[in-house]
Amino acid sequence: MSKFKRTLITTALPYANGPIHIGHLAGVYVPADIYARYLRLKKEDVIMIGGSDEHGVPITIKAKNEGVTPQDIVDRYHEIIKESFQKLGISFDVYSRTSSEIHHETASEFFRKLYETGKLIEKTSEQYFDEENKQFLADRYIIGTCPKCGFEKAYGDQCESCGTSLSPTELINPTSTLSGNQPVLKETKHWYLPLDQYEPWLREWILEGHKEWKPNVYGQVKSWIDGGLQPRAVTRDLEWGVPVPVEGVEGKVLYVWFDAPIGYISATKELTPEWETYWKDPETRMLHFIGKDNIVFHCIIFPAMLKAEGTFNLPENVPANEFLNLENDKISTSRNWAVWLHEYLEEFPGKEDVLKYVLTANAPETKDNDFTWKDFQARNNNELVAVLGNFVNRALVLTQKYYDGVIPAAGELSDFDKETLASISTIKADVEKSLDNFRIREALKNAMDLARLGNKYLADEEPWKVIKTDPERVKTILNVCLQVTANLTICLEPFLPFSMDKLRGFLNLEKMDWEKLGDTALLPVGHQVNKPELLFEKIEDSVIETQLQKLENTKKANEMATAKAAPAKENIEFDDFAKMDVRAGTVIECEKVAKTKKLLKLTIDTGIDKRTVVSGIAEYYQPEELIGKQVSILVNLAPKSLKGIESQGMILCAENADGTLSIVSPDKKVKNGSEIR
Ligand code: 2FM
Ligand code: ZN
Repeated sequence: MSKFKRTLITTALPYANGPIHIGHLAGVYVPADIYARYLRLKKEDVIMIGGSDEHGVPITIKAKNEGVTPQDIVDRYHEIIKESFQKLGISFDVYSRTSSEIHHETASEFFRKLYETGKLIEKTSEQYFDEENKQFLADRYIIGTCPKCGFEKAYGDQCESCGTSLSPTELINPTSTLSGNQPVLKETKHWYLPLDQYEPWLREWILEGHKEWKPNVYGQVKSWIDGGLQPRAVTRDLEWGVPVPVEGVEGKVLYVWFDAPIGYISATKELTPEWETYWKDPETRMLHFIGKDNIVFHCIIFPAMLKAEGTFNLPENVPANEFLNLENDKISTSRNWAVWLHEYLEEFPGKEDVLKYVLTANAPETKDNDFTWKDFQARNNNELVAVLGNFVNRALVLTQKYYDGVIPAAGELSDFDKETLASISTIKADVEKSLDNFRIREALKNAMDLARLGNKYLADEEPWKVIKTDPERVKTILNVCLQVTANLTICLEPFLPFSMDKLRGFLNLEKMDWEKLGDTALLPVGHQVNKPELLFEKIEDSVIETQLQKLENTKKANEMATAKAAPAKENIEFDDFAKMDVRAGTVIECEKVAKTKKLLKLTIDTGIDKRTVVSGIAEYYQPEELIGKQVSILVNLAPKSLKGIESQGMILCAENADGTLSIVSPDKKVKNGSEIR
């Protein structure tokens, strides 16, 4: 770790306006957790900071929609988020929140320092105002067309289509999201961070000084700086947030992106009285784990704030990830297109590590990636079960079978034995190199190579065959397998902590430091191990089908929600309408039409007669449920033969947006034959 004595890991504070999904996990929390666990295993001084981001317009909008207070919203989601992280085993040293008192104090103090030392510009300008709601329209309170890409629903702070950061006055055709009205311009005073003044320094610090940052991060920062930096407002005319701590100022709060990163400082204060060591000692290395949409805030704006304040460290690295998609579609909270962590934890109890594994193996480190349930199943069944689980299970079952669970002494080692054991150290070096460079996905692959190595060794050596001809040799083979297994508990600990805990239970082994990885005598001869259970279970097709069906239902619900009614047909005369003879009738018999999926044959008492109608509603109704039901039937439709049955009329149905059919019935029972018009 060279010049650093300790590490401060921050993880983007998720907005407390919705639960956590796999995109958050893959982008930020799983890689940060792996890295933190790795450093802890190495006995380094490290803390990992998390917390909920509880300010910002999306929270107030949600509160308004639900008729509750913003505090109600953040209380609800803070709890859900915190609990789900804890259950997944994301090992925060502190999980705080920005509505806390300590945060309000810390953020106010930070602002005051910048204000008092003249680091902020005070400026009165015209901003959009909603006259109906008597409110200035900041951030998500205003939408309009993006001047860069033409997207029509760009927000006042950012276009979610092209990612450009915007200010409300740049929007074309601005509209208030509160009233739908065209806003008017009105004067208001705000404080700005003059980012333009920091440009030369940012160039030197990042573009010259941090060429080692990930190309996606470096590239985004460069294009921002090259595009020219503008002063950035750090206050807003809103009620919800940290009040601007300037005397006489009312109805103004700190911009959410000003206070949120200060939340990292507040959380550290909450964790330890030594917080300043983690923030101000130059021997502390600060790392921000974030998703790509947060790059500008963590690489430009927050560093400029820290620089302006003057006493804090700057980030040493910002290993931001790209986005994770779900089944080839962008994850979206508003469209409910996500795998929600709290739901996963309920539906897959005991499979916390499986999710972490899949999200890491498929992490969007260098480009956007796709999560699919089929891949989730394949990685579980073909990698965790078939390679890792299979290897340790066979090694432990054979040890029970041949030696009652007592570690046998190895005899003379063959070249292959020596090679296999030596590979553990090579793998250790590979994992370290990958993790030290934030290539977490590659590190997992490296670590799994140890399981692959063990599996191959066992398959090549075939102790179950050798036992018949050379039982002494089997002792050596199993000793080698067991030492590899013991090393696995260290090597995979950062990635699969629950499973490695379980494996240590099978091996009757204490948790060991990273330093021990590579030691080929972790299990002493004569050591008693326990009877193993399965480390991982196969995931059946039916489980995956259920998840895919859930997504299918979401898709349908979204289609329904966005479907527009077909435009009205051309006007007709009443006489045209009157030509249709529609009556109320009761179904007296009903059966499926053989060899068809869609058709039902119904006998209807129309009041005029009893007649047969063939109707394409078999997918939506069971024959039994229709008997006795009153329907509307068009009785003067020319008869038509369907599958050899003459249909004498048509049952009227409403066709839903998703194509499903619903029978139109008289609201109250009427006499059969009553005319419907
Ligand atoms: O993008 C987000 O979800 C933000 N709430 C992240 C904030 S990170 C930090 F600065 F607090
Ligand atoms: Zn755009």
